[in-house]
Amino acid sequence: MTTPVFEVENLSLHYRLRFGAKVHAVTNVSFTMQPGEILGIAGESGCGKSTLVNGLMGLFIPPLYPSGGDVKVAGESLMNRTPQDIRKNVLSRKVSMIPQGAFNALNPTRRVKDIAADVIAAHEHGVDRASTHVRLLERFKLFFGKDADHVLNSYPIQLTAGERQRSVIGISTLLNPEMVIADEPTSALDVSTQKVVIKMIFDLLDAGIFKTMIFITHELPLLRHVANNIAIMYAGEFVEKGTADQIVFAPKHPYTKALMGAMLSAEPGQKDRKPIAIEGAPPSLAKEIPGCRFSERCPVARPECRTKIQELRMFSDRLVRCDYAE
Ligand SMILES: Nc1ncnc2c1ncn2[C@@H]1O[C@H](COP(=O)(O)OP(=O)(O)OP(=O)(O)O)[C@@H](O)[C@H]1O
Ligand SMILES: [Mg+2]
Repeated sequence: MTTPVFEVENLSLHYRLRFGAKVHAVTNVSFTMQPGEILGIAGESGCGKSTLVNGLMGLFIPPLYPSGGDVKVAGESLMNRTPQDIRKNVLSRKVSMIPQGAFNALNPTRRVKDIAADVIAAHEHGVDRASTHVRLLERFKLFFGKDADHVLNSYPIQLTAGERQRSVIGISTLLNPEMVIADEPTSALDVSTQKVVIKMIFDLLDAGIFKTMIFITHELPLLRHVANNIAIMYAGEFVEKGTADQIVFAPKHPYTKALMGAMLSAEPGQKDRKPIAIEGAPPSLAKEIPGCRFSERCPVARPECRTKIQELRMFSDRLVRCDYAE
């Protein structure tokens, strides 16, 4: 079997607070990714998605610390490395991140070509301006065709929103990373712009510019159009992981069902369905949670759910963290 592009084994992460307190933002997350895979991760606000992203890049900036586990990109571990080492040798080169709100985050005082040239200069020594320019033009032609030169020579403010989005993705993938992680890249975008961004992601994957992608969003139904597989996160844990169709059309974990029920859906036969909000809020991650983390909000919880820890196990051809899933 080939080495997976990405391997995550029992990754746990915490934030250190004052007086020795900790927030256990991510607990025992494990998964692997093969070339061509797009994994969607969804869950409510505060469930640990962005924290997990930092862990997946090996980027630990206080107050965030690893509590255990391992992350490997193409067989190489990202744990126990300094932020300087990770920034120089891993970010952009092996794992590239399109952060939350990135599409408005281009430095307004610099032209797109200078922002992009900085990424190359930061990772490759001794490349001259002329060869960088040729390379940028070639890459941007993939996204912009004959407008590539115009976009590269523009300041972000001179571009349309769509051009800015494509520029951010173009810059994030310049160095052909193994993995791209997009944290809510399309939230706050209208549907037609979302479609453009998603098409571009597929084009890049098909062109072999990157090998795998993690796509994080609140909008679970959107993931069906983007991801092959989906993991649902709740209170720092994966509670269900399966194919996109399994998760969207036949969720098994009560939380996944509640999350799907809370979304507006444009799927056939579901357009008249009213979304139902999930009552209550996720538990605090600052203290130990006995039993199932969703039990306090779960509509089908039994008394034992509050004390019995649930493991992620195979059920109905996917992983589910609930002994009573049906
Ligand atoms: N710097 C920090 N210090 C302490 N706790 C933090 C810090 N950043 C995040 N947290 C906590 O970690 C948990 C996970 O937060 P995280 O931002 O990873 O969630 P998220 O799923 O990305 O949420 P959203 O959907 O709103 O982006 C939350 O309980 C949050 O309050
Ligand atoms: Mg987040």
